Amino acid sequence: AEQNAPSATFCYFRGARFPSPPVSPQGLELVESFGVRDDDVFVSAFRKSGTTWTQQIVSLVTTGSNISEVSRIPLGKRVPWLERAGLHADAPPIISQLKDSPSPRLMKTHLPYNMLPKQAREGKGKIVYCARNPKDVAVSLYNMRQINDMLQLLTWEEALHDFLSEPPANLWWNVIPEYWCHKDDDNLLFIKYEDMKKDLRGHVVKIAEFLGRSLTEEQIDEVTANCTFAAMKENQATNVSRDPLIQEKMLKRGKEKGIEFVRKGQVGDWRNWFSPQQLETFEAFHREKMAETDLTFEDEE
Ligand code: A3P
Repeated sequence: AEQNAPSATFCYFRGARFPSPPVSPQGLELVESFGVRDDDVFVSAFRKSGTTWTQQIVSLVTTGSNISEVSRIPLGKRVPWLERAGLHADAPPIISQLKDSPSPRLMKTHLPYNMLPKQAREGKGKIVYCARNPKDVAVSLYNMRQINDMLQLLTWEEALHDFLSEPPANLWWNVIPEYWCHKDDDNLLFIKYEDMKKDLRGHVVKIAEFLGRSLTEEQIDEVTANCTFAAMKENQATNVSRDPLIQEKMLKRGKEKGIEFVRKGQVGDWRNWFSPQQLETFEAFHREKMAETDLTFEDEE
């Protein structure tokens, strides 16, 4: 019989709910006043929306050359998670270690816009935001629960319900339209998972331009080749399921089930999961919540 996690543990911050561990309540407190540098880059995304993919692109674009070396260093080291707890029980939260990191600092975050560092909201540093259609996010979240030993195992029905009933402060339908409102800010680039699937190379170029990096055609090709789904699935620096240490520590369930962190990478996988009834309920909810925004997603390949 499957072992369920005893109980999901969360922390709450300004009304939003975070899985903790790995998110650090102490770390969250420090985000608002975090000293941002001009050349800081924040990779921001809702969970399961292409965070890892965008981290890899930003990391390789910023490095320019030396791609093979950077591909071997775990992505979590190259682009650490801003609000994460320290990697060891006694270690301070990641954010307090970042103070001493050399520039340019690349950081990942799942925080809503209004919880980003104040100076980033005022225009300092750069933010690359990646959004994905919510039906595929729901499916990817469900699968993540299947593989991550720290998360509570839920059925598909339960996971879908959980996604739709997150607290308003971090409900997908509040968080993503808020980022969308900032799409024209000078220091924010808003990209969509579905568009990256259609034109990966074009997005490598777009991200490089946004970050002020000029890459040769050859470098663009090389970055692109290292950011395809196939390459990122093979690479243990980007697919934590292929990293024996991490797998042993937190992905044993995934190994048993044969599901990997870099899992399927498709647009429209939701078709394999939603019942007609679930789809109807979801679409009605979506329509109502998105009535005030012009943000739309193409959710079929
Ligand atoms: P699926 O579960 O649908 O496969 P995040 O990094 O925000 O946690 O998002 C994880 C999702 O991005 C997973 O989706 C994962 O497979 C997908 N992904 C990771 N790398 C990718 C790539 N290079 N191309 C397309 N999808 C990718």
